[in-house]
Amino acid sequence: MLAAFYTRTGPAREVLTVGEIETPEAGPGEVRVRLATSGVNPSDVKTRGGVRSRELPFPRIVPHSDGAGVIDQVGDGVPPGRLGERVWVWNAAWGRPCGTAAQFVVLPAQQAVPLPANTSLEAGACLGIPALTAYHAVHCNGGVAGKTVLVAGGAGAVGHYAIQFAKIAGARLVVATVSGAAKAALARDAGADVIVNYRTEDVAQRCLDLTAGTGVDRIVELDLAVNLKTDMAALRRDGEITAYGSSLPEIPVPFFPAILKNARLQFFIVYNLSDADRKSGLAGVTALLNQDRLKHNLDGRLPLARIAEAHELVEGGQALGNVVIDVA
Ligand SMILES: NC(=O)c1ccc[n+]([C@@H]2O[C@H](COP(=O)([O-])OP(=O)(O)OC[C@H]3O[C@@H](n4cnc5c(N)ncnc54)[C@H](OP(=O)(O)O)[C@@H]3O)[C@@H](O)[C@H]2O)c1
Repeated sequence: MLAAFYTRTGPAREVLTVGEIETPEAGPGEVRVRLATSGVNPSDVKTRGGVRSRELPFPRIVPHSDGAGVIDQVGDGVPPGRLGERVWVWNAAWGRPCGTAAQFVVLPAQQAVPLPANTSLEAGACLGIPALTAYHAVHCNGGVAGKTVLVAGGAGAVGHYAIQFAKIAGARLVVATVSGAAKAALARDAGADVIVNYRTEDVAQRCLDLTAGTGVDRIVELDLAVNLKTDMAALRRDGEITAYGSSLPEIPVPFFPAILKNARLQFFIVYNLSDADRKSGLAGVTALLNQDRLKHNLDGRLPLARIAEAHELVEGGQALGNVVIDVA
């Protein structure tokens, strides 16, 4: 099969190769998916770039955790009725050597989730990381019904879904931060009630003004290192920050503002959701797809041969939404 892979970490153009590798076979409890699309996430790019570790856990890595396609082979113990099923996949490259930047992927049957007929294979490649992350950030610890929510980076792959999930879950007010007009339009389209340009406006003050001085109940945070001080000022007493990203590996915590507000700081990574949280995220996202209630923030579809360009788009922060690779 045709696949993209790397055998050392480094710059996309230097380490990513597109070529023929062996086609995998489904083992017991596994399915093989003939992929149509493969989603590129910041995590895939950081792993390939050696940001977290320069060492590879496997001699050769086919990147990307997200993707969508059709089941074309089932292993022992998997109902043959799943053959031909349209699916989206999650965690394909997490702790595994072979992700979705290939024509086929083999993975445990539960990691291939039925994709409703109304949802494109392109959108299916945005669900494993962006949608499930946003879903958990919004729904964890009792959710946001009746609450006020600040979504940082409301036009991002995760942020765009987070706005939608918060509105659908019954948040009273959803404020989203952006850096300019194009991103403001995306956040508004996702349903944000108020858009704040974090580069030109005082985000904390806007949140206080919008909540009669009390602050917001929950902040869905993509860069805790940069925004923590602002978040602490924008948060209400007993409020919560659900942090899923940070541009720095260590962050000083403003202890006094945090303790005086009884602030809760919830970290999580979507790869390691508990079984119960995973189940709830899969059910929630599937239900909303079936009801046709989700908008997918797709920006750019490139062929597998241009995977290095796709990584650079995500790495440079130029993408306006999810970048998807066409692997069909
Ligand atoms: N914990 C997890 O499981 C998990 C899951 C998914 C993603 N992540 C991490 O979360 C981050 C975002 O992922 P993504 O896929 O949503 O990325 P993305 O699609 O690139 O979106 C990021 C968005 O945030 C904006 N932004 C950047 N810095 C900001 C800041 N300081 N305040 C407000 N907005 C800011 C960016 O636009 P401007 O630069 O124009 O403002 C962009 O619109 C990445 O670091 C990723 O690794 C973690």
